[in-house]
Amino acid sequence: MYQQKDFVLTIEGLTVSFDGFKAVNDVSLYIEEQEIRVIIGPNGAGKTTVLDLICGRTKATEGSIKFKGKELTKLKEHEIVHAGVGRKFQNPSIYEDLTVFENLELSFPRGKKVWGALTFSRDQEVIDKVTEIAEMIFLQDKLDSPANLLSHGQKQWLEIGMLLIQDPELLMLDEPVAGMSVSERKQTAELLQRITKDRSVLVIEHDMHFVEEIADRVTVLHQGQVLSEGSMEKVQNDPKVIEVYLGH
Ligand SMILES: Nc1ncnc2c1ncn2[C@@H]1O[C@H](COP(=O)(O)OP(=O)(O)O)[C@@H](O)[C@H]1O
Ligand SMILES: [Mg+2]
Repeated sequence: MYQQKDFVLTIEGLTVSFDGFKAVNDVSLYIEEQEIRVIIGPNGAGKTTVLDLICGRTKATEGSIKFKGKELTKLKEHEIVHAGVGRKFQNPSIYEDLTVFENLELSFPRGKKVWGALTFSRDQEVIDKVTEIAEMIFLQDKLDSPANLLSHGQKQWLEIGMLLIQDPELLMLDEPVAGMSVSERKQTAELLQRITKDRSVLVIEHDMHFVEEIADRVTVLHQGQVLSEGSMEKVQNDPKVIEVYLGH
């Protein structure tokens, strides 16, 4: 067990059963503030299902998920987003016909007050925030480009930007660098390191070079259970992990 610390996310005994098959089986995870945690594991290990459970897309059969002390297993998906959990899926869901600016603008959270005050004129606060996020995601020169002209990697960044503009305290990414070029992967690592100044990140990833570059801690899932956990070096040298990745 870890020492008592401020965990952003505390998952205990998390289990989901699909027709008797436990895709996630008694998983416990403790994510700290500003931590980048990477979940690795073979296909079918239950990685995506863990993110589905956290964001409320799938309901847990057993166990608890506490985010800043608040139990998420009882909340609906939009309530979980509102609580400060952002989740990026494997395929980008951006608006292809809209510009980078417009995509980011649409994701800007509008409280009732702001919404009421906003007519057709772009509020300066929105413009400033969009500009700040565009710089962060390396798209400051693309604000007026339609999203369909972006590279695959740039689309992934745009979607990360659309989440960042909502300022989540926990950001979850499922295989963010899949299909990216080497230089895009480097930039993505830099991006993730930058954004953890004020949030935690939970990433599923297969690219071990990328994992090594970003992970504070790695959790290895196998058949719905935590097989190993710790630094990249520790899990890489764990005989149980080597067995799963190289054995049979
Ligand atoms: N909604 C579902 N209904 C039934 N089985 C599911 C469902 N979602 C996932 N599974 C199964 O759970 C297991 C874990 O899937 P998944 O979490 O997608 O694995 P990973 O992301 O690690 O590759 C797989 O065997 C998958 O077929
Ligand atoms: Mg998956």
